[in-house]
Amino acid sequence: MKRLDDFRLRFGKQELVPIMIGGMGVDISTAELALEAARLGGIGHISDAMVQDVSDRRFDTSFVKEKTKLYKHNIDNSDKSLVQFDLGRLAEATKLHVGKTMQAKKGPGMVFVNCMEKLTMNGPKETLQVRLNSSLDAGIDGITLSAGLHLGSFALMADHPRFRDAKLGIIVSSVRALQLFLRKTSRLNRLPDFIIIEGPLAGGHLGFGLDWAQFDLATIVKEIKLYLETEKLDIPLVAAGGIFTGTDAVNFMEIGASAVQVATRFTVAHECGLPSKVKQEYFRASEEDIIVNTVSPTGYPMRMLKSTPAIGSGIRPNCEAYGYLLDGNGGCAYINAYNEQIKIHPDGKNISVVDKTCLCTHMRNYNCWTCGSTTNRLKDTTYKLPDGTYMELSAEHIFRDYQFSVNNEIAMPEMPELVKA
Ligand SMILES: Cc1cc2nc3c(=O)[nH]c(=O)nc-3n(C[C@H](O)[C@H](O)[C@H](O)COP(=O)(O)O)c2cc1C
Repeated sequence: MKRLDDFRLRFGKQELVPIMIGGMGVDISTAELALEAARLGGIGHISDAMVQDVSDRRFDTSFVKEKTKLYKHNIDNSDKSLVQFDLGRLAEATKLHVGKTMQAKKGPGMVFVNCMEKLTMNGPKETLQVRLNSSLDAGIDGITLSAGLHLGSFALMADHPRFRDAKLGIIVSSVRALQLFLRKTSRLNRLPDFIIIEGPLAGGHLGFGLDWAQFDLATIVKEIKLYLETEKLDIPLVAAGGIFTGTDAVNFMEIGASAVQVATRFTVAHECGLPSKVKQEYFRASEEDIIVNTVSPTGYPMRMLKSTPAIGSGIRPNCEAYGYLLDGNGGCAYINAYNEQIKIHPDGKNISVVDKTCLCTHMRNYNCWTCGSTTNRLKDTTYKLPDGTYMELSAEHIFRDYQFSVNNEIAMPEMPELVKA
């Protein structure tokens, strides 16, 4: 019987344990979590979502305060088009977040940054170019382009001296999206180093419509594998979404994946950025508590716990401080939905916005409890303590469980004295 450890992910001569911990913004996949994956010989992701806020919290900088001060006069204005990011400060924040993480890296694995194209930041092309190139400047091992088709993203880095040496990959959910990407980037003569195939059971935003349940990860992996073989392309495939045990992972390796990307099991790790109270919400969740809805202003469906405080919250848009989802014209679907409610309740009191959510503020405050479809199984991976809470796990324990377990088994952590008694 095979274990995931019987396989290796190969980048040229480099061999890695075929486990990637997926990017989870905003700072849910912390540097500490990503560094553990690298120490153990796999790949960890940090995320550059809301990087100025993340830098302020990690390094006591004041990027957000500065931007808020600059645009304070606009707070009551529903037109946010003048709220821009200072590209120099954006580069600084990215270099701090990425650079300090890379300085702390130990062990044979790698740290990548997850870069969501949908963070359009009222200047989609310029801000993305700064984010990507600053990460390369700061020594990141690789970049995963996510949420958005990223058809032009490789070109934005083409002049960087590390363009051909850093590992660059994309997340797709269909063979069609991959074909479009490869066609668009063909003139750069630079293929992706890896392709993450994210199926419909993943956490965060989904690359499907509301008909997501009709799709199946194994089928998409096989389709993409066949397409690459036909095109004589040899690019490692990474399966993601709903992989809960080492055995699930081995099943994907056997149909041609070179690695798996996992996230949900790590949401209850000590090193994960979610506050402990929120981790307990994840542990307690039952199957009925996990829903897919359209409240994200990005336009993609998103999976979350139905008790998530972000749903129905009517807070004033906070774009002067954040503004990561403003499109190239300063618009955001949440601002529109909020303004509709203000028309109905001009006093601004007791506002509830149901169809969209202020994703920047709520993700930043850990009030949008996005999660994968297997979240209801987390309680089976640990012990319930006498006070009714569940014991958090170490990232190392979860990583090793994926690496070494067989027979769909899940290794329990050492039983705490409190439970033994
Ligand atoms: C809490 C959470 C936040 C996530 N945030 C992001 C994100 O910011 N960007 C992204 O590309 N994927 C995001 N994902 C998706 C994961 O990186 C990963 O591909 C997926 O969840 C793997 O499936 P699993 O959670 O079933 O293991 C997130 C997943 C979770 C659980």
